Amino acid sequence: MKYLVTGGAGFIGSNFVHFLLGERSDAEVTVLDKLTYAGNLKNLEGLPEDRFTFVKGDICDADLADKLIQDTDVIVHYAAESHNDNSLSNPRPFLDANIVGTFTLIEAARKHGKRYHHISTDEVYGDLPLNAPELKFTEKTPYNPSSPYSSTKAGSDLLVRAWVRSFGLRATISNCSNNYGPYQHVEKFIPRQITEILEGRRPRLYGTGEQVRDWIYTGDHSSAVLTIIEKGKIGETYLIGANGEENNLTIVKKLLTLMGKDENDFEHVNDRPGHDQRYAIDSTKLRTELGWKPQFTNLEKGLEETIEWYKNNPDWWKPQKVETEAKYAKGGF
Ligand code: NAD
Ligand code: DAU
Repeated sequence: MKYLVTGGAGFIGSNFVHFLLGERSDAEVTVLDKLTYAGNLKNLEGLPEDRFTFVKGDICDADLADKLIQDTDVIVHYAAESHNDNSLSNPRPFLDANIVGTFTLIEAARKHGKRYHHISTDEVYGDLPLNAPELKFTEKTPYNPSSPYSSTKAGSDLLVRAWVRSFGLRATISNCSNNYGPYQHVEKFIPRQITEILEGRRPRLYGTGEQVRDWIYTGDHSSAVLTIIEKGKIGETYLIGANGEENNLTIVKKLLTLMGKDENDFEHVNDRPGHDQRYAIDSTKLRTELGWKPQFTNLEKGLEETIEWYKNNPDWWKPQKVETEAKYAKGGF
């Protein structure tokens, strides 16, 4: 099987490429990635040279997409502008990568009749109230995105659904909750706080910190995606989650404690405008229909391993850190 993985030099896409080539000895992978500020070739080191090719390019480049997709069995589309805070300060790149990029890929996929899997997010459903723990997102929850990021992801999902219905595109969609683990860009919540502590500064909590995210270890996201590609029903959407709900304040306190600091040694900074309150995934469909289950569900152990990785890999994250913090400082975050 020949796979084209877009965004494979990013955090989650690179995890999937390592997972896929490790799990399937007959798989060949081409990664198409523009290497934006979030892409890093170091994430793809150590892959088998005879089964892996890297192409630097933009998913909005129709000629390139056409050429690569012609020679592919399955397209797995991870490439995106992925950070909410960036979408609030500069939305335009999100429309280009997330909407036009997806359109370009599904057009080529339908022209050549190729299998397509679309990576999306639980944020397309908006947020849940904090005072109703029984509520969770399901595949039937109406779309109600809040930010420029999540609205462009929602738009891209709707394009895929329309291409399935109108053109018979052989596509599946997955919407996953918040990922964490090694190789995540330091702009994101968990690596930002770990690297702030490692650099001798205090973690930065937006607003009260009562917002809840449903954490999943990246490796579990990758195994779910491969399950959907191999066993999923064409035209269906599957929600991916590992029952990892925790509020931001608790995560910051856990990180401080695990790193030998006082659990109250953090700062409250400006809240994110339009901040989503709570995400929570009901992944019953994926578990019962396709038999998937997560392996890494111990959040505390996952955080310990993630801290260890950032401690041991300053050469990977230091180059991103200064630029990221300068961006945050400008917005008062
Ligand atoms: P990331 O920002 O770490 O990586 C994105 C990758 O896409 C980078 O390598 C970047 O260079 C590449 N890219 C961006 N624009 C491109 C373009 N126009 N052409 C080619 N490549 C381009 O993102 P991530 O956190 O790994 O997220 C990957 C995907 O998973 C995204 O689609 C995101 O919406 C989705 N997702 C993320 C999470 C999460 O918790 N991070 C959860 C659910 C879904
Ligand atoms: O739910 C899936 C989504 O999870 C993905 O689609 C996105 O690509 C991914 O970035 C993530 O979005 P969030 O906005 O939830 O993640 P982020 O890491 O930016 O923030 C997590 C929570 O932590 C959120 O409530 C905001 C808060 N936060 C974030 C940062 C960077 C802070 O309190 N302090 C911070 O410094």
